Amino acid sequence: MISIKSPKEIESMRLAGSIAAAARALAGKMALPGVTTREIDREVEHLIRSRGAVPSFLNYAGYPASACISVNDEVIHGIPGKRKLHEGDIVSIDVGAYINGFHGDCAATFAVGKVSEEAARLIEVTRQSFFEGMKFAHRGCRVSDISHAIQTYVEHNGFSLVRDYVGHGVGSKLHESPEVPNFGPPGHGPRLLPGMTIAVEPMVNVGTWEVKVLKDGWTVKTADGALAAHYENTILITSGDEPEILTRVHE
Ligand code: MF3
Ligand code: CO
Repeated sequence: MISIKSPKEIESMRLAGSIAAAARALAGKMALPGVTTREIDREVEHLIRSRGAVPSFLNYAGYPASACISVNDEVIHGIPGKRKLHEGDIVSIDVGAYINGFHGDCAATFAVGKVSEEAARLIEVTRQSFFEGMKFAHRGCRVSDISHAIQTYVEHNGFSLVRDYVGHGVGSKLHESPEVPNFGPPGHGPRLLPGMTIAVEPMVNVGTWEVKVLKDGWTVKTADGALAAHYENTILITSGDEPEILTRVHE
């Protein structure tokens, strides 16, 4: 069952989304050489709480932090700690905020100082692949139309898509139906309807799509040690031609 949010629920999701997006932006500004991932996590938690929300990920299935911070060949779910960022690293930061009974979930990969041309291209292709998916995030399309658009764009640019983790419905729970894969043929999966809210989150690798989970039980790394990037927004399927991005900072 895919929940359809009421106008009032959507208003709460806009609020949750704007707080998550503000935390992501702050984390991105902090991604400088010498900063530890724990310092970024602390500021993310502080911003979320200062706006009256709760970090969605903290204690989720036992997750021990507010943000997931994944460096270089870490794809997702990196646990913040004493690791310092260095010039040339790329860092993926994923945050969620919960307020008024609803979640906002978003992520982005940031360059730490000056990075290689390949790393910069990976970040940009990953981000753009989300927007390629958005071209199919409207009523009447099916979930895998989004998946296929993301995969086509990423593979055309010579990178690969993680298969083991997917996007998801989001609302009163962080993970709801449907699953939103970043690969696969078009024309499959549920039909999109106005009022559905989903997190679309391509995870893109430079090399093989295969990943492994570290002994900490969380950190997901590329199997071949090559770079990975991540980009995610929570979106609303609307009655118009375009989805509304809920995880955005309002001026
Ligand atoms: N954006 C990620 C997801 O949708 C974050 C979850 S991390 C967790 O799965 F700690 F909450 F599990
Ligand atoms: Co997510």
